[in-house]
Amino acid sequence: MNKKLVVGNLKMNPVSPVEFGRYLDMLEKETKHKDFAKTEIVVCPPAIYFRQFLDRKFKNVKLGAQNVFWEYQGAYTGEISAGMAKASGAGYSIVGHSERRKYFGENEEAANLKLKAILKNGLRAVLCIGESMEERKGGQTDSVLKSQLKGSLSGIGAGKIECVDIAYEPIWAVGTDKLPTTDEILEAKIIIKKALAEMYPKKRMEKIRLLYGGSVKSYSIGQVCLEPAMDGVLVGRESLEPYEFIKIVKIVDDN
Ligand code: 13P
Repeated sequence: MNKKLVVGNLKMNPVSPVEFGRYLDMLEKETKHKDFAKTEIVVCPPAIYFRQFLDRKFKNVKLGAQNVFWEYQGAYTGEISAGMAKASGAGYSIVGHSERRKYFGENEEAANLKLKAILKNGLRAVLCIGESMEERKGGQTDSVLKSQLKGSLSGIGAGKIECVDIAYEPIWAVGTDKLPTTDEILEAKIIIKKALAEMYPKKRMEKIRLLYGGSVKSYSIGQVCLEPAMDGVLVGRESLEPYEFIKIVKIVDDN
């Protein structure tokens, strides 16, 4: 059976190495001497803090990047490559996040190029997909999720797909405290599974973990993860509080 996965996306936080040091102190306190046997924990801080994270030598918390560029090296001011992230200790990278799409104009093609670079460099990917409220109200959830999946996964063969986890993150639930119902998540899950079944053999598909992301809190884990039998969660704001974040991990791990 696959392990479950809980990912903390710290986004552009905390604001300084000193603050991040405090964060790591608390994360250490919450995870030390604990064995989360059924769950992988990944924290994705800003890349500038990777070294600081690794210096703590966590046994049960892995390091992830929030974003990487698809080129290997060169004149791409401000970017870091998947190879650099890997060589600097990351084991994962998020790709296709709705904030990348919204603020940096990334589309399926960019997500696809990035995903290819991530896999080529031996990282695992957490691919984010999700519909806007307008699309949901217009009855387009099905077609939006399908086209995001098909576009992002284009050219990713069956041999590589098991290194990809997929996070269903409805855009309208990110940073808003709005949550989809369990049934809405189940519907999205079915759409995603159907689309994947058209692309990959069943055996490979079973390796792909499906996460839920968007306003996840410990008290809503039942609704968004346990009841729809998701394989884990992608957590934004609540991952900034190690106590709350690990509370989420514990609930996922215990169920
Ligand atoms: P929030 O949990 O803050 O809504 O963010 C979700 C998210 O974007 C995780 O990638």
